[in-house]
Amino acid sequence: MGPPGAGKGTQAQLLKEQLKVPHISSGDLFRYHLRERTGLGQQAASYIHQGLLVPDEITIGIILDKVLGVSTQEGFLLDGFPRTVDQAVALDNTLAERSRRLDWVVFINVDEAELLHRLGGRYTCRECQAPHTLSETQGGDGKCSNCGGELYQRDDDRPEAVEQRLQVYQTETFPLLDYYRQRGLLIEVPGIGSVEDVNHRVLSALGQLPVDVN
Ligand code: AP5
Ligand code: MG
Repeated sequence: MGPPGAGKGTQAQLLKEQLKVPHISSGDLFRYHLRERTGLGQQAASYIHQGLLVPDEITIGIILDKVLGVSTQEGFLLDGFPRTVDQAVALDNTLAERSRRLDWVVFINVDEAELLHRLGGRYTCRECQAPHTLSETQGGDGKCSNCGGELYQRDDDRPEAVEQRLQVYQTETFPLLDYYRQRGLLIEVPGIGSVEDVNHRVLSALGQLPVDVN
């Protein structure tokens, strides 16, 4: 969890390799459907464009479907879901019905000035959806360093949409931190510093520091 631009996607790209678990990103899934112009993409488009949440009635079903598609042994890493208390309750209920539960909820904390700076300079890969910084693209070939795909600027990184997303985060998603804190699941990690530093903090907090990272 974390506000827009906190580094959820960036850290998830690393963690999925390090922890060998599938990465389920609600934002990436919606962007895939937007690109492919599916029915779901058309339903979600105006919400995403404005920086609003896609309604729970649409979101909960498609993300829980993905979660249930993961085998029990594998585990999973969620990015961008849940974002409302109703989504969290639906997730808890679905996992409990299958005798499963969340191990941890990692909150990446970044101040607003840094979020605005990051989102203004973000380039996203059309193919693998990995986020990149402007400096990674400067002097390079403008391609994704993971897969060589084309980089683009997300439509919802326009200043008006960013402002809306930050507001929605405060009202809808911020209260979820208490929901998980009360359940003893929340780990707070400062998100300022290099990508590697933040990754080190997350792994360390999860008790998952591999021997080659120290
Ligand atoms: P989503 O795609 O989830 O967007 P978000 O939460 O606003 O988060 P971002 O993806 O913008 O930021 P991030 O934290 O992943 O940061 P990143 O790693 O890219 O959702 C988009 C939309 O889909 C929503 O607005 C909503 O409409 C809909 N939606 C999605 N889930 C939903 C749900 N559950 N319910 C309802 N609607 C939903 O990093 C940002 C930039 O910073 C990058 O350029 C990166 O390279 C750079 N960076 C990362 N770490 C560092 C660092 N340590 N130092 C410097 N730069 C860094
Ligand atoms: Mg993201």
